[in-house]
Amino acid sequence: MKGVILAGGSGTRLRPFTRVMNKHLLPVGPFPMIYWPIQKLKESGIKDILIITNPGDIAAFFTLLGNGEGLGVTLSYMLQNQAGGIANALNLAKSFVMNEKFVVLLGDNIFEDTLTPYIEQFNEQSTGARILLKRVKNPQRFGVATLDSDSKLVTSIIEKPEHPDSDYCVTGIYMYGPEAFEYIKQLAPSARGEVEITDLNNLYIRQQTLQFSILEGWWVDAGTPRSLFQANKLVYKD
Ligand code: TTP
Repeated sequence: MKGVILAGGSGTRLRPFTRVMNKHLLPVGPFPMIYWPIQKLKESGIKDILIITNPGDIAAFFTLLGNGEGLGVTLSYMLQNQAGGIANALNLAKSFVMNEKFVVLLGDNIFEDTLTPYIEQFNEQSTGARILLKRVKNPQRFGVATLDSDSKLVTSIIEKPEHPDSDYCVTGIYMYGPEAFEYIKQLAPSARGEVEITDLNNLYIRQQTLQFSILEGWWVDAGTPRSLFQANKLVYKD
């Protein structure tokens, strides 16, 4: 299986740092943020990895990581010309993943669990996609999933609900089959001008093919100053 790490975006919530550098190069513990998702893919046996980032940032990534040899992986790079949303970035991975199943990580998601059991569950799945969820105390801040325990399917995802139906937040860890690229073609940009990953996941929900796993360890989306600090604390605690 191949892996895709999304490391573009505009990082507005981490300004002023992100005026001069890509968010995923900021420190999390002793390493730049991007090392962590690479490490998570590698430890689960995924060594063929595509990094998608912005044209102005790719030189820095290449200087840092090169072809991945130093980290024991093989890295490819692709440019997202503007921050058109997570599903827009993902669409660029089509020629890299071809007709295989693949794992997508948002480059600012730092977490404790190993991905191995979840990837095994996805491999056993004959159709559809799988997303990883995490129980959180403040689901209003996230995309929130409702689940059907009998069918083991996600039945809805609502972005930042005022009155969440569950405390299961959708993390930035996704597993798709090649049909994802056909689905993305059907998506229009949202009101904020982005092709949304939630809209892609909702297409799978409509087909009743979106399965889920629940992370057991800690998980942080390190996209704000406070959560970046939190990620640093958690990484150093280990
Ligand atoms: P976000 O944190 O949703 O967006 P952002 O990185 O632009 O930050 P901000 O909201 O503070 O402006 O992005 C989540 C992850 O997805 C992050 O790791 C960057 C990646 N991403 C892309 O690769 N391309 C994109 O077009 C977007 C929006 C995000």
